[in-house]
Amino acid sequence: MYWLGLDVGTGGSRALLVDASGVVRYSFTAPHQEMRMLKPLWAEQSPDDWWHASQLAIQGVIREASTDGSSIKGIGLTGQMHGLVLLDDDDKVIRPALIWCDQRSQPQVDFIEAKLGRDAIFKHIANPVLTGFTLPKLLWVRDHEPQKFEAVRKILLPKDYLRFKLTGEFATDVSDASGTAMFDVVNRRWSAEMMDGLSLDQRDLPKAFESHEITGKVTPAAAAATGLATNTPVVAGAGDQAASAIGNGIVEAGKVSCTIGTSGVVFAYLAKPAYDTAGRVHTFCHAVPNAWHVMGVTQGAGLSLQWFRNRFFPDVAYDDLTADATLSPAGAHGLFWLPYLMGERTPHLDANARAAWVGLTARHQRSDLVRALLEGVCYSQKDGLEIINSLGARPSQVRLSGGGAKSPFWHQLFADIFDQDVATLATQEGSAYGAALLALVGTGEFATAAEVCRVAVKEIEVKEPNEQAVAFYAKRYQVFGSLYPALKQAFQTIGELDA
Ligand code: XUL
Repeated sequence: MYWLGLDVGTGGSRALLVDASGVVRYSFTAPHQEMRMLKPLWAEQSPDDWWHASQLAIQGVIREASTDGSSIKGIGLTGQMHGLVLLDDDDKVIRPALIWCDQRSQPQVDFIEAKLGRDAIFKHIANPVLTGFTLPKLLWVRDHEPQKFEAVRKILLPKDYLRFKLTGEFATDVSDASGTAMFDVVNRRWSAEMMDGLSLDQRDLPKAFESHEITGKVTPAAAAATGLATNTPVVAGAGDQAASAIGNGIVEAGKVSCTIGTSGVVFAYLAKPAYDTAGRVHTFCHAVPNAWHVMGVTQGAGLSLQWFRNRFFPDVAYDDLTADATLSPAGAHGLFWLPYLMGERTPHLDANARAAWVGLTARHQRSDLVRALLEGVCYSQKDGLEIINSLGARPSQVRLSGGGAKSPFWHQLFADIFDQDVATLATQEGSAYGAALLALVGTGEFATAAEVCRVAVKEIEVKEPNEQAVAFYAKRYQVFGSLYPALKQAFQTIGELDA
């Protein structure tokens, strides 16, 4: 018997099967079309492309397992957060989705703040409204495409569009809903105050469930399209970060993870909602009932390496690029990378921030550029970790996951720059894995997420910080921290000139 996790990521859709004890047995990924960036701050994808890729991923994993849909007992969904999917009266997609890293909506953020007031917003949703969140994207459509806005009957998050295609139901989960800026995170329900205050219709929103709850069953049409069995239960699942945290065993106080995918996220479990008054980290519902989490987001973490490789060295494997970085000394001969390729959330909350290498000289080589890039992502994640620690998380170690955890070199860099023990886990499957574990809970195989994590999540390697390296990087972290303030105004002006 298997349980399926389906992750609608940015780069692709990934389907993964676990067995009854939460061990990963098979997985299959189908790529998405690259996000479309028609203007510098825009990022769009087609929900029907996600559905297409998800069908291939599900068919693929069933084929890999040489089985059929009847052996799959439950499905958990996860995916990129904050995206805006709009459906009309006929349940058709109205326009391409504005995805998580789309930053066009600063005027709408300003409008919402002016209209509702920053303090009231914190009271309603426990967070500020950020350009990356769903609500200002919705208002952008209202402002710029009024006819399309008029046609809106349902507002969904990316994974919840897949749920609709699989089950015919409109539903979401509390962790993903938290990233919309329309959700009352403390009380775990949609915020009537936000919706009414902005003259939006709450009936357009899907019902919000706890992550392990069953939200619907696979329809005959979806079964025919995917190879799943009709009536297979689909649990609510979670946003990719909360799901990934389940996969990393971040299910009790004192546990913190750092996940390096396209974005980079430091994530801590909270038994009670607590928030940074400057809003530099997000406080969202966890995928565990009665628990919350706080997370700091580097928009362009894995993206930094991916961008560098794809644009300049498409024929070089990632492993070879990171191996190249070891040829450069610590500090990359005085070179720093600001990873703000898609603006930045933590700690700057600045959609206009831009990436930069600072400190280039004629002596620098590709190896230095890559090393600076890896170090820069670590510094940026440390920015988030420091804020999380100031909220009381203070972990004894950090669990590293995602693509970044695959490189032993980067693993040690994190330990040295964080000045913290950094552990990697036996299963590096991230959010699809967490979603599958939630399906195990939802179908009654385990009573709670904590219980399944105790059985399924195992640490394999802990790297300790090297004392000398810690002192070395502490000085450079100070320099890193001084660079964004020095460039902030220039980024703003560049953005205006480049609009
Ligand atoms: C989290 C976030 C990213 C996206 C894409 O706030 O924006 O993790 O979900 O992966």
